Amino acid sequence: MSLIGAMESAPVSDEMVVSEMPSRRHVLDLDDFSGTEITAVLDSAKGMAEVLGRDIKKVPALRGRVVVTLFYEASTRTRISFEEAGKVLSADVINMATSGSSVEKGESLLNTALTIQAMGIDTIVIRHPHSGAPYLLARHLDRVGIINAGDGMHAHPTQALLDLFTVREKLGSLKGRKIVIVGDVLHSRVARSNVWGFTKMGAEVVLCGPTTLLPLDLLGSDGGRIPSELASVKMVTDLDRAIEDADVVMALRLQEERQQGGFLPSLREYIRRWQVTETRLQRAKPGALVMHPGPMNEGIEISSSIAHGGSSVIEEQVTNGVAVRMALLYQIANRSS
Ligand code: CP
Repeated sequence: MSLIGAMESAPVSDEMVVSEMPSRRHVLDLDDFSGTEITAVLDSAKGMAEVLGRDIKKVPALRGRVVVTLFYEASTRTRISFEEAGKVLSADVINMATSGSSVEKGESLLNTALTIQAMGIDTIVIRHPHSGAPYLLARHLDRVGIINAGDGMHAHPTQALLDLFTVREKLGSLKGRKIVIVGDVLHSRVARSNVWGFTKMGAEVVLCGPTTLLPLDLLGSDGGRIPSELASVKMVTDLDRAIEDADVVMALRLQEERQQGGFLPSLREYIRRWQVTETRLQRAKPGALVMHPGPMNEGIEISSSIAHGGSSVIEEQVTNGVAVRMALLYQIANRSS
């Protein structure tokens, strides 16, 4: 552990303790993180959570740095928590929505990002409906760090890191834990990043949902392309079976547009077979956690009593998102190259 962020003339309360983290310019997904690096981010987030618990939530760690949030898709949790994270660390945070910008005149993503880079911005946090958009920026921008805040169906690494942090805080460890992720896994960038994150931390991941909403490519059914690190991931359609002895049950939002796409038998059937309910949760381990990345469809993928009940850590996930994003902004801004 090292003491970082204390300005020479700053009072002691401006200090914060963060873990040493490997140098990294971008956060695009968790597939290129090692378990050691994930642990370092979670340890650093713990130090950031301590800052957030103070009466005055402000440290000078990123004074003089500029962060742009560039969101091509709607967001409540991710965008606001990045803004809060940057401001607590004293960065200047500029929120850019596509409406009202030159994107409306047809400016391309790359030209928009190059324009932002030319203004001397340090970090771009991007959400985009197309998978791979953050990778395009990472390839073409040479002076800006890129953080993926969700790209299409592909990845949402900062959500996965806050999920890992939440489970570690509540259960103490991740290794050997049984994590059941249920719902529309196929279209979920949260699930994909969590599969990488939990697996790298030694947890057992079970994906559950209708066959039409499971990512069967993970089983190697489309040419055996399953990465060997994910060989332990299981897929089960029966939620009552999947949930047996689970340490964590994570429900995913059923994306409304899927109902029209022939992915579901019917909404009523979906609720009957895959909703996380009190009865089902009794099959999990005592003290099992219920999670949801949000936004929720209460009464569809999760019952209201479970969403707001004693097992739910859904609000804690949101709270922890600020600390985890502080850790990532700090790491990216202080990279060595
Ligand atoms: N979990 C999540 O990404 O929520 P938002 O879409 O509100 O950011």
